[in-house]
Amino acid sequence: MLAAYVEKPNKDNPLSALVVGQRPDPQPRDGWEIVRVEACSLNRHDIWSLQGVTQHPPLPLPMILGCDASGRRADGTPVILYPGAKGDGGSREDETLDPCFNVFSELAQGTMADYVIAPVRSILPRPERIPALDGAALGTTWLTAYRAIFSKARLRPGQCMLVQGSSGGLSTALVQLGVAAGLEVWVASRSSDGHSLAERLGAHRTWASGIALPHKVDAVFDSVGESTWNHSLESVKRGGTVVVLGRTTGANATTNIPSVFRPQIKIVGTQLGTLNEMRDMVNFVAMAGLRPVIGKTMPLEHAEAGFRAMLEGSVQGKIVFTRPD
Ligand SMILES: NC(=O)c1ccc[n+]([C@@H]2O[C@H](COP(=O)([O-])OP(=O)(O)OC[C@H]3O[C@@H](n4cnc5c(N)ncnc54)[C@H](OP(=O)(O)O)[C@@H]3O)[C@@H](O)[C@H]2O)c1
Repeated sequence: MLAAYVEKPNKDNPLSALVVGQRPDPQPRDGWEIVRVEACSLNRHDIWSLQGVTQHPPLPLPMILGCDASGRRADGTPVILYPGAKGDGGSREDETLDPCFNVFSELAQGTMADYVIAPVRSILPRPERIPALDGAALGTTWLTAYRAIFSKARLRPGQCMLVQGSSGGLSTALVQLGVAAGLEVWVASRSSDGHSLAERLGAHRTWASGIALPHKVDAVFDSVGESTWNHSLESVKRGGTVVVLGRTTGANATTNIPSVFRPQIKIVGTQLGTLNEMRDMVNFVAMAGLRPVIGKTMPLEHAEAGFRAMLEGSVQGKIVFTRPD
């Protein structure tokens, strides 16, 4: 089958580590089911994989990339995958806290292929209102955004949130979910294109990255990392929450410690979400009629162009790869 995979990671030149070619079809396995992929989407996680950066080292090679997909069961039922690829949820209420929690393309082969084998529990029905392309864009970023707003920051309608960055898959999901939930959504972006995108998605105010805000917000959502970290701490109310979601611009920010304890800021990390949060998110998206922003769609054969676009930062929203019907 056709797949996009990594065989020899390259830290300095991730694109050179990408192979689009043939891999063996997945073989049946107890408790797992083979899904025919209709569409799969690209995440920054796939760039880390090309660089050999993984939570569960060493990355088993060759590894098919991709955490997210929508597709069909053998009987034709439309499905969407929960990105968690561990065969059971463990005994914890929150399976993401299990040290063995992993997503597709870490220990189990990923979704960027004609077929993916997935734990049965990770295969969810795809509501009729969610087309295959949208379904592929929902997994990792929308699940993370949903948990960040509702489970981590615990925002209520009417409260004010700031999203760092506009164009990324995570930023667009945060804006769309926040607006749909009745929050006042502010976005900080480096470019006027970023401001226009956020406004199209319903953001109430947009700001230049790093600028002092007219008032502080209830929660800040930061997936940008080093470049925005201090602005995030400065922008949150006393007792408010900074949710840490990623580190696109670097992992080593410095923190002025009194700026955390004096205003009693909560700094909360988050990663993906549980299967139950995924179910709730998919229902919310279907019920509210939300459509993820898809900036680029291309057949999997041309995956390299999609990876290049993410590295250049030239796409607004998600990049989705398709397979023929
Ligand atoms: N915690 C989790 O479970 C989880 C899940 C998904 C993703 N992530 C992480 O979240 C991060 C975002 O991923 P993504 O897929 O949304 O896309 P991405 O391509 O990594 O992020 C691009 C975003 O970063 C902003 N940005 C880039 N450079 C910037 C700078 N110098 N200053 C200010 N903003 C800057 C861009 O905003 P503008 O262009 O508008 O300025 C854009 O919104 C990644 O680090 C990813 O690994 C974490």
